[in-house]
Amino acid sequence: MSMSSIARTAAVLLATGVAAAAQEPATSAALPSAGPPMSEGQGFTESGGAALYAQVCAACHQAGGEGATGAAAYPALLHNEKLASAGYPVTVLLYGQRGMPPLGRMMSDTQVAEVVNYVRTQFGNRYGDAVAPEDVKAARP
Ligand code: HEC
Repeated sequence: MSMSSIARTAAVLLATGVAAAAQEPATSAALPSAGPPMSEGQGFTESGGAALYAQVCAACHQAGGEGATGAAAYPALLHNEKLASAGYPVTVLLYGQRGMPPLGRMMSDTQVAEVVNYVRTQFGNRYGDAVAPEDVKAARP
């Protein structure tokens, strides 16, 4: 993992509050001590699957979806047959899974649908049954 992707990963972790317990906050303004560690609601301003992927997911899964190994293993989304079932990535985003933070809780239903539809149709994945925002809403915790 390059230094810049480590920095981006750290930025995402700080943004989600996941690393709050493990890392010193960069500034007290960035991580207010009051409030929940992970805000519910719409923490990401990007719209469109490509922009969301580049801003939120690529830090760990890499720009081409190839994943990475290092301090932790970030699975490849490239040619990933587990994406055949649309419910799987929706669930991973909304509930998290081990090292994968529940980033979908910081996104709108539309944003989750967009980024899921993006990864299911990029990186050699050709799953045409698009997820709708209503599907995301129904799957939320
Ligand atoms: C902080 C790093 C990080 C970020 C950011 C991140 N992921 Fe993950 N992701 C992981 C890790 C680690 C796993 C493996 C979880 C496990 O152990 O099962 C994972 C697993 C997944 C899986 C399941 C893959 C499989 O083969 O089972 C999907 C799908 C996924 N991530 C999609 C996304 C999407 C879409 C985004 C952006 C919205 C994203 N991830 C952002 C770290 C991350």
